[in-house]
Order: sequence, then C-alpha cells, then structure tokens
Amino acid sequence: MTRLILLCGLPGSGKTTMAKRLAAEIPAVRLCPDEWLAGLGVDLFDEQFRDKLERQFRTLAQDLLRLGQNVVLEFGFWSRAERDQMRDIGRALGAHVELHYLAAPFDELVRRLEKRNSEGAVPVTRELLIEYAKVFEAPDQDELDLFDVTASADRPQWS
Ligand SMILES: Nc1ncnc2c1ncn2[C@@H]1O[C@H](COP(=O)(O)OP(=O)(O)OP(=O)(O)O)[C@@H](O)[C@H]1O
Ligand SMILES: [Mg+2]
Repeated sequence: MTRLILLCGLPGSGKTTMAKRLAAEIPAVRLCPDEWLAGLGVDLFDEQFRDKLERQFRTLAQDLLRLGQNVVLEFGFWSRAERDQMRDIGRALGAHVELHYLAAPFDELVRRLEKRNSEGAVPVTRELLIEYAKVFEAPDQDELDLFDVTASADRPQWS
C-alpha cells in the first residue's frame, strides 16, 4: 500500500528530523517547503509564495502516489481543514494516509529553536512561537482516529 505521511507540529517539533529518517527508511519522497523556499531564494515568511508552493506540492504528491511512490509532507499542517483536505486527496488515490503529530512542551520547543537559531537557521523567536501556538490546531483523538496510521511524540502538547 502506498503511504502518504503528514507531519504535523510547530517549529522545532522535529518534522524535518523525522521526515529525513522516514524518507530514508521507507523509502519515500520528502517534500519540504522551507528547503525549497530557501533554495529558490524566497523569504521563508512570504506566506503567499508558500501557499503557492504547497499547492504545487499537493499536485506533485498526487502524481507520485499514482506512480506508487510513498510521500512525506512536512508542511506543519497547523489547521484541521488542511489535514482533512490532504487525507481526502490521499484516500481518493487509494493511499494509506498517516498523521504523525509531533508535540513537545513549549519550553522544549524554545530551547531547540534557540539552539538551531544559534547555528545560523532563520530565527524563530519565543515571541513568534507564542503567536504560532495560538493559531495551531492540535489534532484531538477523534481526528487521529480518522487516519489509517497515527504516531505521536511521547510527551503531551502543552495546554
Ligand atoms: N525528538 C527530538 N528531541 C530533541 N531534539 C530534537 C528532536 N527532534 C528534533 N530535534 C532538534 O530540534 C531542532 C528542530 O528540529 P527540526 O528542524 O526537525 O524541527 P521542524 O519541526 O522541522 O522545525 P521547522 O518547522 O522550523 O522546520 C533541531 O535542532 C533538531 O536537531
Ligand atoms: Mg523543518
């Protein structure tokens, strides 16, 4: 069964780390908006461009699934609507759709991001993370049950 894996979580939750591991292990094609934006010389905070890129990736993901390739999408999937849409798209193509929800306590996210910022990544500050956390819609158990496979980090999302 072809696998479509959605990696959901805030910055610092470990999506890219997990995606690289899964892409090598499964194997699967990994589509990472941040890397493509950086490679194209586009500002990572250009939301309009990011939306367009993600739309292109959704189309590409469908082509890959039709060809029998497994796909890992590390969009973050902050909204329930986005996750619902992608699950429908995958299912329509007969894929197994998996949601991997990466949660970590807020202070742990900040700690990881501060370390990453110091290594030269585009900085995500504590203040920005607070704003992101306000709009992030964490999946609940009812939603997780809608997927073929789910995986979550051990530690619960802060409330
Ligand atoms: N499970 C983990 N435990 C501890 N540190 C981790 C874990 N997963 C990732 N990290 C570290 O945390 C930092 C952020 O991880 P990563 O870049 O994978 O997150 P991300 O979700 O892709 O973030 P972004 O949304 O900003 O791209 C990295 O320095 C990574 O090495
Ligand atoms: Mg990442």
